Amino acid sequence: MNEVKHSDLVPMLSAHGVYKSFKTFHSELKVLRGMDIQVQKGEMLGIVGASGVGKSTLLHILGGIDRPDTGKICFEGKDIFQQENGFLEKFRNTQVGFVFQMFNLLADFTALENAMFPALIRGDSRKIAREKAEAMLCEMGLKERLHHKPSELSGGETQRVALARGLINQPKLTLADEPTGNLDAKAGEAFMELIRKLNRERNQTFIIVTHSQKLASSLDRVLQLVDGKLGPLDTNISL
Ligand SMILES: Nc1ncnc2c1ncn2[C@@H]1O[C@H](COP(=O)(O)OP(=O)(O)OP(=O)(O)O)[C@@H](O)[C@H]1O
Ligand SMILES: [Mg+2]
Repeated sequence: MNEVKHSDLVPMLSAHGVYKSFKTFHSELKVLRGMDIQVQKGEMLGIVGASGVGKSTLLHILGGIDRPDTGKICFEGKDIFQQENGFLEKFRNTQVGFVFQMFNLLADFTALENAMFPALIRGDSRKIAREKAEAMLCEMGLKERLHHKPSELSGGETQRVALARGLINQPKLTLADEPTGNLDAKAGEAFMELIRKLNRERNQTFIIVTHSQKLASSLDRVLQLVDGKLGPLDTNISL
């Protein structure tokens, strides 16, 4: 009989009973209402759902950027919100890659510098960070745009810089929020090829929020966020 490893039993990422509300002056908006999820290492998971249902909120909580009101998020068996000081910063910088829906690039820095930041923060030398960022941006078809600032890039180019920045440290877990929303068919296909390669060669795990039927159908599993909970995809909906 094959030996069962501990790492095979514990999901890479899990969430249990997650609630999240936003309080405004007049009311309380209950976004996540008892959300659960388990993601195995090497899985490519899609999350779909209507606009405003809470998909970005969910990704921010899974990646330790925002806190749930109640419930827990475990990464490799550890509750990420119950660790020592400094754990979350290190977790976000060394384990997770983020591709934000609004890109969040720094306006005063070039495409190359923006893509280099996570590598520099992790401790790579400027030379190594620059080489990695250049290679990643070239792979995204941005060889001629390395020294452009975000205001000098098109929407699709900006998105590709954000993708390069999210992937540069080859994180164990990448959380990507509508990563192909601004891309044309060719750039979208190149992104899908790249993440498939990273998944195949390095067993990287991806959780991808998307409205793209094509991207969703290329993933291992797709869950739908409805009424604050994740469940199986209702195949009758259009994304
Ligand atoms: N900081 C906040 N304060 C108050 N309300 C918020 C806040 N952030 C998000 N919301 C509200 O919470 C709900 C969920 O937002 P979220 O951005 O997670 O939706 P989404 O599913 O990602 O939508 P989309 O597909 O349009 O990106 C929305 O109705 C939004 O208006
Ligand atoms: Mg969103």
